Parts: sequence; C-alpha cells; structure tokens
Amino acid sequence: MTTRTSTSSTPEFADLVSRVREVVHSTESTDGDTTAEGVSDVATRVGSVLSDRLADGLPLPEHLRWHDPDHYTQHIVHVEPSGTFSIVALVWLPGQATPVHDHVSWCVTGVVEGQETEEVYEVREVGGRSHLVRVGETVNVVGDVSALDPPGDIHRVRNSCQELVVSLHIYGADIHRLGSSIRRAYDLPTLDRAE
Ligand SMILES: [Fe+2]
Repeated sequence: MTTRTSTSSTPEFADLVSRVREVVHSTESTDGDTTAEGVSDVATRVGSVLSDRLADGLPLPEHLRWHDPDHYTQHIVHVEPSGTFSIVALVWLPGQATPVHDHVSWCVTGVVEGQETEEVYEVREVGGRSHLVRVGETVNVVGDVSALDPPGDIHRVRNSCQELVVSLHIYGADIHRLGSSIRRAYDLPTLDRAE
C-alpha cells in the first residue's frame, strides 16, 4: 500500500467531517453497544451519515484519484485532532486488492467511484492447520456503504471492475499515529468454503 496525506477542502467533505464528529462524540459513552449484527452503534450511525452524504453528492477532488501502478493507494484525508476517527480515500486500479486483514477499530466504507468486491473470511482449523475460509462476498457499487466491527471483521477488498475504484473509509482510530487501521494481515492457505 502507498500512503499519502491529501486533504479535501470541499464544503461537502467538511459537512461529512462535522456530521461524523457529531455522531462519534455523541456515542462515546455507548461505544460498546452493538446491534444484532455485531456492529457497534457508532459504526451503524456513521454508516448512515456516509450513506446520506454520498446520496446528496460528494464531489471527488482530482488529487484523491491519484494512484500507484504497483499498489493500491491510501490518501489520508482527515484525522480528527482528538484521534477519535480518521477518513481515508482508498484507490485501486483494476486487479489491485488489499491483503486479507482485520482492523483495530470499527470501520465504515462507501464507494465513490467504480465497483469493489468485499470478501469476508473466517480463520478455521482444517486438517490441523489454520486456514482462511471465504464465507461471504459482497459487490459494492457507487453509493453502497458497509460497516464492520472487530472481532469477526476479517476481509479483503478488491477492484472488481475494469475502471479506477475509489472508496472512502472511516475508522474509529488515529491513522496518523498508527499509519494504518489494519490490525493484522493474514497470510494463510485459503479455502473457498469449509465442508
Ligand atoms: Fe478493511
């Protein structure tokens, strides 16, 4: 992954930041609460904010489409001064993908351009060895938003179209301090589904 710091000064982005800030600060005391799907209240509400903002329009400054021919790119667009959340734009060329990974915090994603596929994995013991088992797959198009919360958030995201893909990712973590929200990348043999 290539990382750049790339701010956005559009009013629409400023509106997104202020609405996410409102949600994160108002749910700090209830951060441990989860829905039936295991996603925290804060991630669900941030997902609604991002979904609404994408529906209302979120113009993408051209510099946030900058990409690296060798790796997918992470543009760090906003890190909240208190460190409570960060917003990055991830850019994939056709064929580029993240490793299989999980996160240190809740994570909300929304597609701004193109089509990406999110594969969900579980680690299972098969034949006495740890394997990654692919247990689900979702195709996300422009405007689609998804929320993940550890534990149980092992996934991989890949460009699944022939064009550039850009998606916004909001994490409940300080990306300047950590460099990335990835807790662990999993390099294990992969099975499509356990019998
Ligand atoms: Fe991720």
